[in-house]
Amino acid sequence: MKLTWQILENLAREYGDSFYILDVSKFENNYQEFLSYFRSIYPRTNFGYSYKTNYTPKLCQIADALGAYAEVVSQMEYDLAIKIGVEPSRIIFNGPLKRDRDLKNAILNGSTVNLDSWQEVEILKDLAEKFSARNFAVGLRCNFDIGIDRISRFGFDVEGGDLEYAFSVISQLPNCSVAGLHCHFSTPQRSIESYALRARKMLNLTGLYFPERPPKFINLGGGFFGKMDEELRKQFDCHIPSYREYAEAIAPEFARHFPQDTGPQLILEPGVALVADVMQFACQVVGTKTIRSRQIALVAGSIHNIKPTLTDKKLAMNVYRNESSDRGGNLTGDIDLVGYTCMEHDCLSKIDRGEIGIGDYVVFNNIGAYTIVFKPPFISPNSPIISYDSTDKTYALSRRRETSEDVFATYII
Ligand SMILES: Cc1ncc(COP(=O)(O)O)c(C=O)c1O
Repeated sequence: MKLTWQILENLAREYGDSFYILDVSKFENNYQEFLSYFRSIYPRTNFGYSYKTNYTPKLCQIADALGAYAEVVSQMEYDLAIKIGVEPSRIIFNGPLKRDRDLKNAILNGSTVNLDSWQEVEILKDLAEKFSARNFAVGLRCNFDIGIDRISRFGFDVEGGDLEYAFSVISQLPNCSVAGLHCHFSTPQRSIESYALRARKMLNLTGLYFPERPPKFINLGGGFFGKMDEELRKQFDCHIPSYREYAEAIAPEFARHFPQDTGPQLILEPGVALVADVMQFACQVVGTKTIRSRQIALVAGSIHNIKPTLTDKKLAMNVYRNESSDRGGNLTGDIDLVGYTCMEHDCLSKIDRGEIGIGDYVVFNNIGAYTIVFKPPFISPNSPIISYDSTDKTYALSRRRETSEDVFATYII
């Protein structure tokens, strides 16, 4: 996808002065590329696409069409999966809070549910008693030490014996069994060594709990780095592994452990790795001013559009100048790009020794993960999402611009 000022101007005329651009083919390519490295070593690998990372239905539909499970962590996300036509048996339900009705409904529908706590084991027990003629198989989320500072709050403690106890309680229920083990660690530690360690620990647990027959699945969760511009990459003080490096750290452990075709499914739940680079945010420069030594360009966007987590990482961006007509307000030198909110911190980026004027466009890269799902309706409604299809080189609306009415619809007025 090659953007120009004219393309952005045409899109702005149709959709307004700020919008996300979703590159659909990039998502498909990322998916196929990442998965193929794993499958070339361990063919029984499958992905569960992490809805929370970016639940734009268009992406979820593509993931489903490519054969991914829908990895959801709330009833809201479960509802979306069903609404877009995902088979219940292709949904993996994770997360710390699954309400009684939601958890039972998912199990009865044949979705894979990875239990996270004792309360959820109790809900399973209750369901199993009520439906004594049916058999239920669930997964258990494991929590073990992977050498990071923070103790994760999720899953059953392996070292403290909770996992073992949960396993035995479930196995003793006449119509319940454990179908597989799950783990996911949300940590900046995304190195290949860390994933090799997680794989080995999960395989050890599998050996302990499934001595006779392998489980149906071993799920290593997500958390992988995605592709990124060099400018962003330089801001991490660690090596950013490639898709191939992750596959080469994890898949051989599985291939060695299960040399025959009878091994379990290796499930991974990538979010960031698949979507981080598939979205951009474009916004028009709508005003400029100079206050003492500070040069300021106001854009029709906000830091919450591109970095709702307020990370201090600087995203790669491009300025598209209107070369054909000068709408004035030109600034030259160091310029702060500020947003529409009333917050002083709302500075999207800084331009060093550049040039910008009213009517130009700024486009930020690498904003596909944890952006649109985290963007608050703070001060202004949300911008639309426009998908780009590189096959026929067309743009189409994936989410319309939000209105004030949308924002206030749930309030009692
Ligand atoms: C259980 C689970 N799986 C997968 C993911 C996706 O993580 P990422 O987007 O970092 O790949 C998350 C994110 O928090 C998660 O909680």
